[in-house]
Amino acid sequence: MTEALLEARGVTRRFGGLTANENVSITLERGKLHALLGPNGAGKSTCINMLSGDLAVSDGHIHYKGREITGLSAPQRSRIGIGRSYQRTNIFPGFTVFENCRLAAQSRRQRAWRLFTNALSLEDTLEKARAVIAEAGLEGREDRIAGTMSHGEQRQLEIAMVLATDADVLLLDEPLAGMGSEEASKMVELLDRLRRTRAILLVEHDMDAVFAVADTITVLVNGQLLASGSPAEIRANIEVQQAYLGEEAFHV
Ligand SMILES: Nc1ncnc2c1ncn2[C@@H]1O[C@H](COP(=O)(O)OP(=O)(O)O)[C@@H](O)[C@H]1O
Ligand SMILES: [Mg+2]
Repeated sequence: MTEALLEARGVTRRFGGLTANENVSITLERGKLHALLGPNGAGKSTCINMLSGDLAVSDGHIHYKGREITGLSAPQRSRIGIGRSYQRTNIFPGFTVFENCRLAAQSRRQRAWRLFTNALSLEDTLEKARAVIAEAGLEGREDRIAGTMSHGEQRQLEIAMVLATDADVLLLDEPLAGMGSEEASKMVELLDRLRRTRAILLVEHDMDAVFAVADTITVLVNGQLLASGSPAEIRANIEVQQAYLGEEAFHV
């Protein structure tokens, strides 16, 4: 039994004469990590930005939990459970880990579809911050000033902050960028755990990580969906090999 959470149906995004995504369809299911691969400029960030509401679609539709959300803004989507991280970290560097998470939990005001529920109580907010710190593997680091932590821990914190908004969908644009191999493998373990109860879309260049952790891989080339399937199917796909994946990718 799969539960489709977020679905792009035939989405297109044009920038002037350039079509950055053309007729792209992608479904994110609870319990699954879906990786989006493609060379630089293929349209991966554009796709994430349309799903998060940071960019409007030029054409096509986006559905979340069975409702059309194509016209909702990024803050509205965040409130209904669509969370994203950016290619740059997005934390308050002068605040502690705990304060960052508490602020993120507070930003989860009333849900867009339940206009009359109250904002979280202070106690709920503190409880939420504690829970997401544990879930993101940052226990014991609550009082650290965020800006003094390692790059990898700051990315963990950024994910904890997305979790604090009660996201059911995580849209992650290159969360392993700039990490050493030890930090990267910790992050992959974290994504592996988070996927169990949520849907994840992961844009990532590290082939080893993608093939190890993804349930489904979609390959974009020149804004078009070239192939979508299991890691084994993508690895065996001749078109993908010719269009994108270098030989070395197949030694993973
Ligand atoms: N805001 C923008 N304005 C104009 N062109 C853009 C904009 N954002 C992205 N593009 C173009 O769209 C194409 C896809 O970019 P992007 O989605 O960032 O690719 P990727 O994340 O796969 O590297 C590129 O040719 C890029 O230059
Ligand atoms: Mg990008």
